[in-house]
Amino acid sequence: MLKFDFNNMMEKYIGREGITDVELAAVGGEAAAAYAKFAAERGTGMTEWADLPYTQDAVVEDILACAEDVKKNFDNFVVLGIGGSALGPIAVFTALCHFRYNDLPAEKRGVKFFVEDNVDPERMLALLDVIDVKRTVFNVITKSGATSETMSQYLIIADILKKAVGKDWNRHIIATTSEKKGNLIKLAKKEGFKTFYIPDGVGGRFSELCPVGLLPAAVLGIDIRGLLAGAAAMDKRCSSDDMSKNPALAAAALQYIAMKKGKNISVMMPYADSLKFMADWYCQLWGESLGKATDLDGKTVHVGQTPVKSLGVTDQHSQVQLYTEGPFDKVITLIGVEKFRGDVVIAEGAEEFPDVNFLCGHTMGELINTERIATEYALTRSGHMNNTVMLPEVNAESVGELLMFFQLQTAYCGALLNIDTFNQPGVEEGKNATYALFDRKGYESKKAELNAAPKKDAKYIV
Ligand code: PA5
Repeated sequence: MLKFDFNNMMEKYIGREGITDVELAAVGGEAAAAYAKFAAERGTGMTEWADLPYTQDAVVEDILACAEDVKKNFDNFVVLGIGGSALGPIAVFTALCHFRYNDLPAEKRGVKFFVEDNVDPERMLALLDVIDVKRTVFNVITKSGATSETMSQYLIIADILKKAVGKDWNRHIIATTSEKKGNLIKLAKKEGFKTFYIPDGVGGRFSELCPVGLLPAAVLGIDIRGLLAGAAAMDKRCSSDDMSKNPALAAAALQYIAMKKGKNISVMMPYADSLKFMADWYCQLWGESLGKATDLDGKTVHVGQTPVKSLGVTDQHSQVQLYTEGPFDKVITLIGVEKFRGDVVIAEGAEEFPDVNFLCGHTMGELINTERIATEYALTRSGHMNNTVMLPEVNAESVGELLMFFQLQTAYCGALLNIDTFNQPGVEEGKNATYALFDRKGYESKKAELNAAPKKDAKYIV
């Protein structure tokens, strides 16, 4: 069972920068109200994601059958998607598959797996260098069906497939999209693609537990029922408006208090390479959900915490100096793993070097966990807010728990901040400017606005 340890958020342990018991108790009413608001809305509007662990029996059957077909008939599975349509699949793949999965001999792995979440031409060319499109399935994931990056990737791949495969090219595309809206569903119907649906009330960054994440996971042989069971277990543990009984609510309330104390940065630091990309997934979830200019009453608030990804122990030799001695503007969340799935003994051989020899006979698992505890101590001693999420082990259930924990924490925190957690108006401005720069019809006034913007001054370019 996942454990959330927030001792080192408290004044008792970190001193004046910490939260007092009185401050924590004082936010109890607001936290209970945030819980009640979320509980009243869940399953409706944009909170349908919370019910995904319970509502997908038929979808799971369909996914498993499709995954079997992919495994039987193809060598490669490529996700084309971006943001919430890519970060979850990457995080779960990295957490639950072999570290060198694609490099394993064919008999020791399933189909090779790639997630293409950028429109860098060199990357696309590199992908095409290492896959045979005739042996590849492309899972195009876009809820809106309008995302320029994903749709341009689709067009490139569709063209290549048509030329390489001929009339059966459509067997090489699986569309994961909205059932009702957007271009991809129209294309899917026209071309006859196998299709999975992203429910209306599931936004990109909350979509890992729907077909967006479940299909890639199933193709990789990950226990998707285990993922959903872990998420359900966490959801049940979070069914109280009392922070002392609801870990995600406690985590949300603590960040809420921390923000009020000027902690505007949330560092996510797993001490496990397998969870490295969980930090990327969290960064989108936290940043896009909570970074908002106005609240639900229309008041200008400019809230949010800047999420930062970090990796233990690697970033102890890069960022931790700043975290222990820099400004008191951060909350550092460490993710620890009690038991690694394998371990390596540090061999003897340094008897004459006492400052190395002390390591001999211990394991790498012991070393990484000891360094996590040591970093926690250093952060605490220097008075910097930190908390720890402990997983017993990285497996499908614990990853499901972790995903649900952070999703619920984000939803509760958004409710505490009185903002719309599930929209992303700030992303639109850049998208619209791209459309205008490409002379897309309907964006003439945006183009005029861009043309009228002050021209760059050469004196500021050296
Ligand atoms: O969380 C979100 O809603 C976004 O990050 C989207 O996932 C991202 O913009 C991709 O959108 P779409 O799935 O419509 O292509």
